[in-house]
Amino acid sequence: MTGPTGGGAIRIGIIGLGRVSADHVVGYRALAGEAEITAVCDTDPAALLPVATELGVDGYRDHRELLARADVDAVVVLLPHLLHGPVVRDALTAGKHVTVEKPLAATAAEGEQLAALATKLGLVLAVSENSRFVESYMQVADLVARGAPGMVRLVRGLIYGSAVDEYRDDTAPWKRQEHGFAAILDAATHFFYVLAWMFGPVASVQAITRNWAATHLPGVEVEDGALVTGTLHCGAFFSVEVGLTLELPWGERFEVYGDRASIVCDQLRDPPVIVHRGARDPGVPLARVPAEPRTWRASSMARGAADFVRALQEGRAPAVDTVHAVHAVRVAEAAYRSVRAGGTMQTV
Ligand SMILES: NC(=O)c1ccc[n+]([C@@H]2O[C@H](COP(=O)([O-])OP(=O)(O)OC[C@H]3O[C@@H](n4cnc5c(N)ncnc54)[C@H](O)[C@@H]3O)[C@@H](O)[C@H]2O)c1
Repeated sequence: MTGPTGGGAIRIGIIGLGRVSADHVVGYRALAGEAEITAVCDTDPAALLPVATELGVDGYRDHRELLARADVDAVVVLLPHLLHGPVVRDALTAGKHVTVEKPLAATAAEGEQLAALATKLGLVLAVSENSRFVESYMQVADLVARGAPGMVRLVRGLIYGSAVDEYRDDTAPWKRQEHGFAAILDAATHFFYVLAWMFGPVASVQAITRNWAATHLPGVEVEDGALVTGTLHCGAFFSVEVGLTLELPWGERFEVYGDRASIVCDQLRDPPVIVHRGARDPGVPLARVPAEPRTWRASSMARGAADFVRALQEGRAPAVDTVHAVHAVRVAEAAYRSVRAGGTMQTV
């Protein structure tokens, strides 16, 4: 099956030109000959004009005008969470293939509706979940798929870094409600997706949140810390910890503990991945994974852009399964239920 342009470059429209967009633009521009950005959109002229000028393409303040263009095959949606659902629906209805930043939608039910709509219309709906394309996680997924850890007993994810500048910015919408720069929906969902991708569905969760920023900085309504623990249907325990007011560069730890081997990844460490084969093994680095402490996230976004474009060209499904992306949102919903219920166990 050939792609939407019969083998030519996929013509891309980008909707939303905020903080995350620069890495996506770099990713698509690196696919010269395979992809071409033909239009961009942002309601804010200050975000729109520099990018439209730099790329030499038309810029729109209304996404429906971009969607009306015949020379846009696929769109990249990089909008605040509450807009993912309506704008993805508009794009699919306009006949465009879509990739949308995580979370797929603000609710799991909305995510399922979008996936069903894409299937009904014969269009590709991908999720720009960059965790799927972090080199160390791809290598861990390979080890897990080959059974290297044996019976997995515990999986841990930690997201760390500082959003204090964003929380201090009065013009930023990110400090409001759980749909903003919130520890569970914005950050922990990365690892909820990773759990579903590598180990299968989450069975139950307990969650508590920390609200340092809401207490100390004006106007902040979102939680900046979260501890989410629970069980996976495969029998393992998991914990996902998030700290968005921790003063070090953005990074992640990911640990898989099995009865035959354990794997410890940390994006800021060199080497980033150590494998221990048994209780007496001090560990050996996974040689295939280079240290990328400054660029690991941008690299993963570029790989995600390439996967979306090549999925369209090759007529195959994108690497991120929307079933896993929907599950990630469902786990977040259960985690928020747990928070509201005082940290009690919730079934997912
Ligand atoms: N994968 C990651 O590591 C990562 C990192 C950051 C953000 N994200 C995700 O990317 C998405 C965007 O995040 P961000 O940090 O870039 O947000 P942002 O607030 O910096 O940017 C959003 C942009 O959308 C524009 N916008 C708002 N409403 C619009 C509309 N109706 N039509 C067109 N443009 C509109 C805003 O003007 C703004 O420029 C979110 O889903 C977020 O979760 C992912």
